[in-house]
Amino acid sequence: MRKKWWKESVVYQIYPRSFKDSNGDGIGDLKGIVEKLDYLKYLGVDVLWISPIFKSPNDDNGYDISDYRNIMDDFGTMEDFDELLSEAHKRGIKILLDLVANHTSDEHHWFIESRKSKDNKYRDYYIWKEGKNGEEPNNWGSAFGGSAWEYDENTNMYYLHCFSKKQPDLNWENPNVRKEIHDIVRWWLDKGVDGFRMDVINAISKHPDFPDAPETEGVDYPDFGLVVMNGPKVHDYLRELNEEVLSKYNIMTVGETPLVTPEIAIKYVAEDRRELNMVFCFEHVDLDRDYINLRKKPLNLVELKRVFTKWQKGLEQGGWNSLYWNNHDQPRVVSRFGDDKEYWEKSAKMLATCLHFMQGTPYIYQGEEIGMTNVKFESINEYRDIATLNLYKNEVLTGKRSMNEIMEYTYQFGRDNARTPMQWDDTEYAGFSKVKPWIKVNPNYKKINVKSQINDENSILNYYRKLIKIRKENEIVVYGIYDLILEEDENIYAYTRTLDNKKLLIICNFNEKENIFNMPKDINYKTCKLIISNYEVFENKIDEIKLRPYEARVYELI
Ligand code: GLC
Ligand code: CA
Repeated sequence: MRKKWWKESVVYQIYPRSFKDSNGDGIGDLKGIVEKLDYLKYLGVDVLWISPIFKSPNDDNGYDISDYRNIMDDFGTMEDFDELLSEAHKRGIKILLDLVANHTSDEHHWFIESRKSKDNKYRDYYIWKEGKNGEEPNNWGSAFGGSAWEYDENTNMYYLHCFSKKQPDLNWENPNVRKEIHDIVRWWLDKGVDGFRMDVINAISKHPDFPDAPETEGVDYPDFGLVVMNGPKVHDYLRELNEEVLSKYNIMTVGETPLVTPEIAIKYVAEDRRELNMVFCFEHVDLDRDYINLRKKPLNLVELKRVFTKWQKGLEQGGWNSLYWNNHDQPRVVSRFGDDKEYWEKSAKMLATCLHFMQGTPYIYQGEEIGMTNVKFESINEYRDIATLNLYKNEVLTGKRSMNEIMEYTYQFGRDNARTPMQWDDTEYAGFSKVKPWIKVNPNYKKINVKSQINDENSILNYYRKLIKIRKENEIVVYGIYDLILEEDENIYAYTRTLDNKKLLIICNFNEKENIFNMPKDINYKTCKLIISNYEVFENKIDEIKLRPYEARVYELI
């Protein structure tokens, strides 16, 4: 296995709007991140992935960029960015930017020009089509509800927007568009950034025929993703980007890629293909979610193990996994797969253990390291996410679903669960800001915050620090081969890692019951050493262990 710095790193994702407000306007900003660099250094992370900071009208909190070479007013100035980059580098921390290149804002000057006339120089920067029999060009549904096509009176044509109608899709078929993106990427790399997370990067190549998506019962406009993701030229475009720009720098790249399996993913990340270093898959976070009926399904642990194992084994040869539970689009993992009440602390630590010992690069999302939880706002007016607000408009206001149903779904899966302000301390507004923030603070901030955990050796925060430290000190945690054991066990997730003559055994109890772990006969353990656990362990007998609620243990087998 080839050694790389980005395989040995731990990434921390910052959602800048909600991380730290430095100037008292209720919105997180770049100077706020600078203030917290020492904290991040203390935690031990190597790389920060910062969600988009570019100029944007904020229809989708920065995932709608109107100028790729300037900083969003809310977040500060280019001087602030330069300071952040150099202060991070001084501490040995790298910075990844979030490249949103599948679409721009409708306020980007390319689009302002593009919509002016059919013969405008920028017309073909976007995807314009004639309607069909007075309707949209095809049946594709946007990710935020309704059709993915918006009619534009001016030229009597429709433009494609897979996300909101303020996020028109770029036309990557056009070589000028690709060149513009290359120039932007090069510009930031020359400034010294260390890589990119690439937003929905497997959506950039649309099928030339724009075929209808398969009809889905109970859905007016079926998900565009079913026909758009992993399109015919996506690998050509990525290889070109790599050859022209990425390969000239020592950086890391991770693509956000919905609807990929390991077989598809390996085509993006295999080292000899020269495209990306890693991708984010969604299979494990889609297991408990019913997108059609907007409901939560119970998590089946055997399925979760099957999915992770498929990815671990699938990318073992020549690929590399990204490991995550959380990001700015997902509910908080402790509320989702753990227990955010009685076993809050134990389950948060167990979930961290389970993920951080797998093969791949771990990503921690802000607040995950202190066990931040989902939130339940009383009124829809307190939500800010366009996805949630559109659900309300499209489902409740049209009478398709009840308010209760939508609130319940939002409590489980709403993206604002991840976007409430970072909980730094127990003062008003959780130390995030001195004034009322742009989105409400989770009311549990008095209990869950950095300040109360930083000096507590047994806190979730210090547990994450230990996990990171163990990874740094043990090559096996990075490069060891993963193997699942007890495949069919419905309560326990156990696996081993093997490197040369070393072996680790990871045992995680995924529920509040006591469950017995029986060592499989074919594993040779004679002496063993406990290297981390979320309970005190008094005996060191591992052929049969009575695991306590959400208990996690990691042994080194010698
Ligand atoms: C990605 C982002 C999400 C955004 C969407 C459109 O999925 O993670 O936050 O809304 O792309 O850019
Ligand atoms: Ca601010």
